[in-house]
Amino acid sequence: MNKRKFLKNTVIATTGMTVAPSVLLSSCKTDTKKEETTETAAVAATSFTLPEIHYGYNAFPDTIDAMTMEIHHSKHHQGYTNKLNAALKEANISGKTIEEILTMDNLPTAIRNNGGGFYNHTLYWDILTPGSEGMSESLKSHIIKDFGSEEAFKNQLAEAGAKRFGSGWAWVCQDNDKKLHICSTPNQDNPLMQVAERMGTPILGIDVWEHAYYLKYQNKRGDYLQNIIKIINWDKVASRMS
Ligand SMILES: [Fe+2]
Repeated sequence: MNKRKFLKNTVIATTGMTVAPSVLLSSCKTDTKKEETTETAAVAATSFTLPEIHYGYNAFPDTIDAMTMEIHHSKHHQGYTNKLNAALKEANISGKTIEEILTMDNLPTAIRNNGGGFYNHTLYWDILTPGSEGMSESLKSHIIKDFGSEEAFKNQLAEAGAKRFGSGWAWVCQDNDKKLHICSTPNQDNPLMQVAERMGTPILGIDVWEHAYYLKYQNKRGDYLQNIIKIINWDKVASRMS
């Protein structure tokens, strides 16, 4: 994909995102201008706040234990958020959405790592649900068109996470031509970034850092991947598609 063309389209798409995903919206509120609408705050954000997890830490007892959820959210995600805000202040960057920041050229390392950590985890919490009801017929048909079958799609997604060496993420992204693809990125990188091997708009992200699963699964990342795919909020995933 032409990266400059993608960047242009992503920024345009970002305008739409400010009115859609609830978690992303709440994550972009400023502390100092609470009277602003959420949409305005998202665009004018100079600092980001940790999004709340509306389903709580005990939502997935069979899939992700409560201690992992709490540490992951209140320590790891909070840490990325704090360090992102410090890095933005240091770089004198303000008035941009997180998507606009992450698609910038030559991101400073601290913003790349912590901005990625902030965005990636926000998406991760947003697309999980304790009441997963499967895919709509519309989403299923889109996935069958692009991957052959729902089973093939889920297998490819789990494989992307399993094959990621070390820490990183498995992604489902949408291209400019609406087609879906699966990829993986290392560390806290994501497909919005210019450094990504394949760019795209993330609609689903699975954290495969050990901190996401090690207390319950130890070295069995494959088991974690098989289970977490069962708690995806497919309607939320579909709502992120253009
Ligand atoms: Fe994580």
